[in-house]
Amino acid sequence: MTQRKITVVGAGNVGGSIAQRLADRNGYEIVLVDIVDGLPQGKALDLAQAGAVCGHDSHIIGTGCYDETADSDAVVVTSGIARKPGMSRSELLETNIQIVQSVVREASQRSPAAIFVIVANPLDAMTYVAWRVSGFPKQRVVGMAGVLDSARFRMFIARELNVPAHDVQAMVLGGHGDAMVPLIRYTTVRGQPVDQCLSTEQLDALVTRTRGGGAEIVNFLKTGSAYYAPAASVVEMVEAMLQDQGTVLPCAALCEGEYGLRGVYMGVPVRLGKNGVEEILEYNLTPEEKAAFDTSARGVRELCREVDKLLGV
Ligand code: LAC
Repeated sequence: MTQRKITVVGAGNVGGSIAQRLADRNGYEIVLVDIVDGLPQGKALDLAQAGAVCGHDSHIIGTGCYDETADSDAVVVTSGIARKPGMSRSELLETNIQIVQSVVREASQRSPAAIFVIVANPLDAMTYVAWRVSGFPKQRVVGMAGVLDSARFRMFIARELNVPAHDVQAMVLGGHGDAMVPLIRYTTVRGQPVDQCLSTEQLDALVTRTRGGGAEIVNFLKTGSAYYAPAASVVEMVEAMLQDQGTVLPCAALCEGEYGLRGVYMGVPVRLGKNGVEEILEYNLTPEEKAAFDTSARGVRELCREVDKLLGV
């Protein structure tokens, strides 16, 4: 099988961790791009040398030049500034819109058939920026947040119950912000509904901790945000698409009527396959769940309309 080519833009902690995970898989050609001269080159060389020990033979290059990204199957955009303690993700909008816009323009011209996975914050709005700037069909522009938020929720539940996180299934929908919507009714532990395993008070506390899961790590790190779990989440999405797995994962996808939304990117359950977003699944939501989803959607819609203003409608 020919190797699939994946470009990772941004050679910081998130981009570097994604490249490392992909390199360990041994089946990809990886191009790591950054404007900081030497950073992608150094990390790519370091990763290639790790292959001598780990047993991978992945082809990895680091570059500041987009020409080397040509004809990628997938492009992951991690560029942009991260939050500092006390900041909300939406405060990054004006800076990151410039960065994401220019990255997407450069990369989409050279890989017109690629699937774009966006990781920059504010996530839903930046994915919307990428969709607008690329002019790509909505299926090929998707944002990573729900897998990460669900991973946090699963891990917190698992710790509470002393079971492996892998035995907990969960769906966190909505925007990647403080109003995200962890769906208790769709959360199971070894097949059992989670509300039969934990009390309402315990679940409320875990929902609150999940909503602040990113900020909790920012407060520890002080100079940046999380990267191991974000990187793992991106790789799960990329493989679901490039290997045409058909996995259903919560991802930021353009809603055009689904969940009563139109023209906004939101975290919804998505079936991922070789065309990218193959389908948005519409779960039935109780009035309370729908209200929580709509509250989250209002915030995201405002940011998307702000993007429209900044990009010029
Ligand atoms: C987080 C940031 C990356 O949730 O949004 O960790």
